[in-house]
Amino acid sequence: MKIPFVNLGKQYLNLKGEILSKFDEISKKGEYILGSELEKFESEFSKFCETKYSVGLGNGSDGLTFSLLYFNIKKGDEVLIPVNSFVATAWTVANVGAKPVFIDVSDDYNMDTESIEKNINSKTKAIIPVHLTGNISKIDKILNIAKKYNLKTIEDSAQAIGAKYNNKKAGSFGNVASFSLHPLKNLHVSGDGGIITTNNKNIYRFMKKVRNHGLKNRDELEFWGYNSRLDNIQAAIGRIKLKYINRWNNRFRKIASYYSKELKDIVTTPIINEKSTPVFHRYIIQSKYRDKLKNFLFNKGIDTRINYPIPLHLHKASKYLNYKKGDFPNAEQQSKNILSLPIYNELSDNQVDYVVKSVKEFYKYL
Ligand SMILES: Cc1ncc(COP(=O)(O)O)c(C=O)c1O
Repeated sequence: MKIPFVNLGKQYLNLKGEILSKFDEISKKGEYILGSELEKFESEFSKFCETKYSVGLGNGSDGLTFSLLYFNIKKGDEVLIPVNSFVATAWTVANVGAKPVFIDVSDDYNMDTESIEKNINSKTKAIIPVHLTGNISKIDKILNIAKKYNLKTIEDSAQAIGAKYNNKKAGSFGNVASFSLHPLKNLHVSGDGGIITTNNKNIYRFMKKVRNHGLKNRDELEFWGYNSRLDNIQAAIGRIKLKYINRWNNRFRKIASYYSKELKDIVTTPIINEKSTPVFHRYIIQSKYRDKLKNFLFNKGIDTRINYPIPLHLHKASKYLNYKKGDFPNAEQQSKNILSLPIYNELSDNQVDYVVKSVKEFYKYL
């Protein structure tokens, strides 16, 4: 049996009729940029996330960058981020000239809330909790700390569409949140894409301008902005998929709970806070035989990944920040043991069973 890590082609084939007919409709009108599909997607997306506003962008990284720009975060400022994330969380901070200050993670792979306060000083301006794997960070504690020290909270919800904490949706907690619509995300478009959510009208207005060069209308430029609009065709694809996302996320949860039930005695399975309802963008196990297990599964036709093999402070790009090996023991330890198993809506029960049996087989003959 062959089990790819993701199967984007299969999802496309399931939705091909709907996608191609929208493509045809939009192409005939020639309504490619800032069209009605984008407006509808934005209003449906904010309804889904239970926020007042959303604004479609070229990618999720720009959502983080633009949020930092809105808060005028710049050289001399510091921003707190978890040390285990996709690199985009860190480079957006560096990109506006500020210093990324890393925080170790706890056993749920998210920012360790106990380590936050000792990293706050007069230069600290914002905190970016990342809801890694679609499991919301301990956001109640983070918001309390942000309030106490007057910090802005920018949720990196790139992996967390539909995830909940205390029954509230990802993207509805911080001052602003950024989602990625990249093809590896639970809800994705056919290429790059992103969208921010906020309840703040001024942030909403800023985002609409900054994504469109800084123009306040067709002819008048208010400030130097960027070109980062979500294409109308991509928004239409997002709208089609938004209809299915709850069903897909339930399938992710079902597969995850089956993996956990079957594997909990032989590997470390995901630890979920009781207030959190995750969407399992990734299903990560830990094994001290990780590399051997990865290889064994590969030879069985099962593709796995490591999210992420290098904690942010150990990348060459982070060298100037003067961190060293040993500074973040949890993230460093996890990076040696973590392995992401395939998880997506299109995985069949037989395939899920095959993954479970193969992991068990590895441990039997170890
Ligand atoms: C945690 C996290 N933050 C930010 C991003 C950046 O999103 P994008 O690739 O859409 O720019 C991603 C995904 O790629 C991500 O996983």
